[in-house]
Amino acid sequence: MTNIGYIVGSLRNGAYTRMLSRALPDLAPSSFKLAEIGIGELPLYNQDLETDTPPPAWTSFRNQVKNSDAILFITPEYNRGLPAAVKNCVDVGTRPPKQGVWKGKPAAVISLSPGRLGAMASHQQLRLLLSVIGVPVMPSPEVYLSEASKLFDSTGKLTSEDTIKLLTTLLHDFETWIGRFG
Ligand code: FNR
Repeated sequence: MTNIGYIVGSLRNGAYTRMLSRALPDLAPSSFKLAEIGIGELPLYNQDLETDTPPPAWTSFRNQVKNSDAILFITPEYNRGLPAAVKNCVDVGTRPPKQGVWKGKPAAVISLSPGRLGAMASHQQLRLLLSVIGVPVMPSPEVYLSEASKLFDSTGKLTSEDTIKLLTTLLHDFETWIGRFG
């Protein structure tokens, strides 16, 4: 099995990004075992807390990333940028120095917005950020999901056929991408 840790970039109840994450197990290759890595409880990164006993939520987060074979980000966009919670989790995972958990970990990015641009700015910022910290981000397909309210039914189930096809392609390509990194 390939352990995929996925990160939902929104903390709110009823988030479209979370609705999307619920559709993934049905679309993923059978080799994938998907588990969410929560970021909502992570204290904001503060070097003063980086002692022998850092916040337990940091340690738990770092271990979950370490134990994942690959990471899938599903992010919205705030003010044409990456939500602070996502940036914070990236920062937490890069420390302490030389003990970061991201380097070499294959990743893929999905962005989503109720607007027309599919959270493209946030998506691109995340790709840049990940490449800077040594994360091999799958270059394509680039999945920017727009008009999110039209993708789900009233129960929150993903019903957009085009989106289902696109996500299925992304997940199967991700399997191949992960394979390249042993
Ligand atoms: C937003 N939203 C938003 N949308 C967008 O496409 N581009 C943007 O720059 C912003 N900016 C923004 C700032 C802040 C502070 C909030 C709270 C929201 C709208 C956003 O896409 C919308 O709330 C989504 O529903 C958030 O994703 P989830 O929570 O549904 O996953």
